[in-house]
Amino acid sequence: MPTQNAADLLKQFSNLNAPQLRRLLVEHLTKQKLGLYWESNAIERDEALNANVVLPRLVPEFSHTPEGTHFHQNLIIEGDNFDSLRLLRATHAGKIRVIYIDPPYNTGNKDWVYNDKFVGANDRWRHSQWLEFLYQRLTLARELLTSDGVILVSINDENRSRLELLLDEVFPGRRAGSLVWRTKDTGNDLSQRFSHVHEHVLVYANAGFKFNGRATGRSKFRNPDKDLRGDWSPQPLTKAHTYLERENTYYPIQDPDTGYWYPCDPNRVWAYASENEIRKRFKDDELAIEAALKGLRSDSIEQLIAKKLVYFPPCTADDVIQFDSKETLLEDIRAGRGPILPKKKTPILREDLPDLDFWVGKPIATGRPSRKELWTAKPESERLAPLGSWIAGMNEQVIALEEDEDDEPEVLRSARGGVATDEVKDVLGSKAFPYPKPLSLIKGLLAQATQPNDIVLDFFAGSGTTGQAVLELNAEDGGNRRFIMCSSTESTAKEPDKNLCRDVCAERLRRVMTGYSGKTGYSVAQGGEFAYLQLDKIEAADVAFEATPEHAKTLILMRETASTGILIASTAIQIIAKGSDWLTVLCPEVTPLTLDELAKLPAAHGVARLAVFCPRPKALALLLAERGVEANTYSITDALLKGQVSSKKGAKVAFPDSQTSETTLADGSQGAAA
Ligand SMILES: C[S@@+](CC[C@H](N)C(=O)[O-])C[C@H]1O[C@@H](n2cnc3c(N)ncnc32)[C@H](O)[C@@H]1O
Repeated sequence: MPTQNAADLLKQFSNLNAPQLRRLLVEHLTKQKLGLYWESNAIERDEALNANVVLPRLVPEFSHTPEGTHFHQNLIIEGDNFDSLRLLRATHAGKIRVIYIDPPYNTGNKDWVYNDKFVGANDRWRHSQWLEFLYQRLTLARELLTSDGVILVSINDENRSRLELLLDEVFPGRRAGSLVWRTKDTGNDLSQRFSHVHEHVLVYANAGFKFNGRATGRSKFRNPDKDLRGDWSPQPLTKAHTYLERENTYYPIQDPDTGYWYPCDPNRVWAYASENEIRKRFKDDELAIEAALKGLRSDSIEQLIAKKLVYFPPCTADDVIQFDSKETLLEDIRAGRGPILPKKKTPILREDLPDLDFWVGKPIATGRPSRKELWTAKPESERLAPLGSWIAGMNEQVIALEEDEDDEPEVLRSARGGVATDEVKDVLGSKAFPYPKPLSLIKGLLAQATQPNDIVLDFFAGSGTTGQAVLELNAEDGGNRRFIMCSSTESTAKEPDKNLCRDVCAERLRRVMTGYSGKTGYSVAQGGEFAYLQLDKIEAADVAFEATPEHAKTLILMRETASTGILIASTAIQIIAKGSDWLTVLCPEVTPLTLDELAKLPAAHGVARLAVFCPRPKALALLLAERGVEANTYSITDALLKGQVSSKKGAKVAFPDSQTSETTLADGSQGAAA
């Protein structure tokens, strides 16, 4: 039996003639794309999808607010992360630089809930539901990233390919790569005698993102020739091409100070062009010479020598080799006594090479010249080794492949997965959470991906490891990173009272902040506070009636200051933010009293203007103007709806008041402008 969709399509096609059908078929075939398909139409979409507006409600009793907290910079948001992300899209779009997530892996072991039901191994749409579930959330998360933002996603080997294709779809062209993390030492019991002991961290980044890498040591930079410009490091002057492949850069070099000559290695020619060679090649054709010189992408060898950027190692007259005739040269070459490369010990002059006559009578030095890279040539911030994609164990020996460890990529280290369970147990006193990630793993990733003032978001926060990693990292490097943890309650019809977010995520972070197992906690200045938010979902049309001033305060604070409030104002007016010459204020009710208070604010705070969120902005603007107060006024309702998909419709239908000039005050009296 065809489905309703298919039946409708068949009906449409029955009216088409053959050419029309052919055109449709071609269109269909040419529309095909490389990528991932999943049955998104066949499965139930998130019930909440854009149906309503999400408003944050601060829950003081679940928040962590030690003395000295003026406002909360860290947030824990309880609820389905689809809703948390919808809220964050309205408050934090383009403000988050680093997202780390560790989503449920879709193991079939009831590891995740979709529309209030666990998805089991035999669910027919298990993979599609998982992909659709993540797709909905990732497309929201994408909007939160800054232009140099990055998302790091943990995944097991089994689901890696599916997730990677999904991420390609959500972040086209943004794949930076993946890291491999060894999760365990012991084998697991698989029928193919194949033990899965690693997982992946997929990295998708916006254009401006870079890992921090590692500052390379200064030890390579020395000053053996007492160069007045300071220390320098020897860099190769050659590149990996033979003289047959690059005959233009196969030429002899002379040290102008000693007059000694250096033959080119026939297996590794010079990396720089020679002006002299160009002139020889083009003879008297000045135009061709000029064009060739103009086309050089870097200094010629003559320029490098003139700038004293070529180092000729010390060479005494005794070390110099000289041949009186071509015969003696050939004789020595044949007898293996000709000039050789000092390290490789291979001959540098061979019988088969061109221009052997050139060397007759020339003093040939035995060392090899190198290019001098001055320490001062680049700022220190550019002398960085990149992050390697291999995550090593805590005690694993990582052997430098090159002689010089400075050039090796930075290696992240992480404990194995089992350690993470103990880390949570250590704080909460029981095995409160299955399969958390090790702190060392997330700390390492954040140390590489974040800058000291970033907001770090984890919208599959689970036991809150990412929050603890942020605190520990700040303590280690003096940073001021803040976290936003989104966690579900994991309540189901079977366990309606379960609240993982409150009892595990928030509780863990509270104990970490107050100190546990003999470890000291974190002061407010060190980020030892968080706001606990629950979410209220309100139909867009009802926002004007059901949203409270507290909703407005919390949401506007989140948007305007990336923090949230515990500012308890003594009056009905709440100051949200202060700029150089302006004050942002929330005025939930316009009464003669609040009007008077607003009028006093500019003088009291030394600012020229007010930005006021209020119920009737036009009316308030007129009333304030009459009192000589310069103010931009905004509708609270519009602010609550802004950035939430249904807001446009809602605003039109339900809140014509935001554009009226009606000046009735909240207490019923008529304003002067009426
Ligand atoms: C693999 S765990 C993350 C563990 C975390 N990295 C840690 O170290 O504790 C995935 C978490 O995602 C949560 N989760 C699943 N679906 C969710 C949803 N729709 N909204 C919020 N959290 C969800 C699960 O409750 C689980 O705690």
